[in-house]
Amino acid sequence: MKILVTGGAGYVGSHFVKLMSSLGSDITVIDNLSRGHKQALPANVKFFQIGVEEYDKVVSVLKEKDFDAVIHFAAYAYVGESVGKPDLYYENNVIGSYRLIKAAAESGIKNFIFSSTCSVYGNPANVPISEDQYPIPINPYAKSKLIIENILHDFESVFGMRYAALRYFNAAGCDLDGEIGESHKPEPHLIPNVLLAALGKKKLFIYGNDYQTPDGTCIRDYIHVNDLAEAHLKAIELLKAGGKSYVINLGSGRGYSNLEIIKTASLVTGGQIPFEFAPRRKGDPAILMANIKSAGELLNWKPKYNLEDIISSTFSWLKNPRY
Ligand SMILES: NC(=O)c1ccc[n+]([C@@H]2O[C@H](COP(=O)([O-])OP(=O)(O)OC[C@H]3O[C@@H](n4cnc5c(N)ncnc54)[C@H](O)[C@@H]3O)[C@@H](O)[C@H]2O)c1
Repeated sequence: MKILVTGGAGYVGSHFVKLMSSLGSDITVIDNLSRGHKQALPANVKFFQIGVEEYDKVVSVLKEKDFDAVIHFAAYAYVGESVGKPDLYYENNVIGSYRLIKAAAESGIKNFIFSSTCSVYGNPANVPISEDQYPIPINPYAKSKLIIENILHDFESVFGMRYAALRYFNAAGCDLDGEIGESHKPEPHLIPNVLLAALGKKKLFIYGNDYQTPDGTCIRDYIHVNDLAEAHLKAIELLKAGGKSYVINLGSGRGYSNLEIIKTASLVTGGQIPFEFAPRRKGDPAILMANIKSAGELLNWKPKYNLEDIISSTFSWLKNPRY
């Protein structure tokens, strides 16, 4: 398959690129490296350091090959940052994605996969969350993603570009070979932060211990990036086989509280992990957990990796990060 990947030098994108390269796909990556790492890309991948918003340059990349699909990972992805800098998020995630979608649709791309997020659900009325829950996003990041889902829907009827919007829950874990991994600065995600605390490299704060959950801390659904990568492959295959556009959750279907994550990380690392409680953060729902029935039925996909795999692969990476 010939695939154009945006944001392929980032955390989730690079794991997808590695999987597809290993399967012999012809991969082209667009990434402006604002938050990614060129070292995360295999040598045989064609790379363009450009932004998705650079319409003319994107069109000329799209003209290079008869791409089977565009996989759009590129975005800014920090909820907290988006609350303080909504302009940055609407500019990059909405205007940038809009220009990319226009370029792809006008260039005759037939299949488009979009990295959406569980945060479009806001404070969900019911958990586990299924796709029929009405999305009411509560921060600019999540709103930017829902806007793009709607743009894709509107473009399809005119340009015939079918799409899959994949609403990831918490992407976690690292490549099992230790070649690539998660490297964000600053790191916003719980599991690497717990493990950085285990390594004595960072102070760990748990935000809120008075939620309506069994131990008072937030519950989240963690999905290994390799499982996400495989779901993307199946998502492309379904569209290519003539499937209709769709919106689905990608998660593990299991929830772990922050304290359960620390406990499992202590078992994996073999030591106590120091942490402090801090006040709740604005906009953190108590529980986010996916109903993954649709992904199972539509994609014939289910996660292979469990929480121990996620934590141990992240720990191996953080002990010896390559970037
Ligand atoms: N990590 C998660 O838990 C999670 C959860 C839900 C959704 N997502 C979504 O998945 C996607 C990937 O997330 P990630 O964690 O890998 O993020 P990341 O920051 O590691 O990767 C994003 C990549 O996009 C690139 N990029 C950003 N803006 C760009 C632009 N205008 N043009 C070209 N490249 C640009 C960055 O340089 C980076 O390499 C994002 O769209 C994110 O919103 C991630």
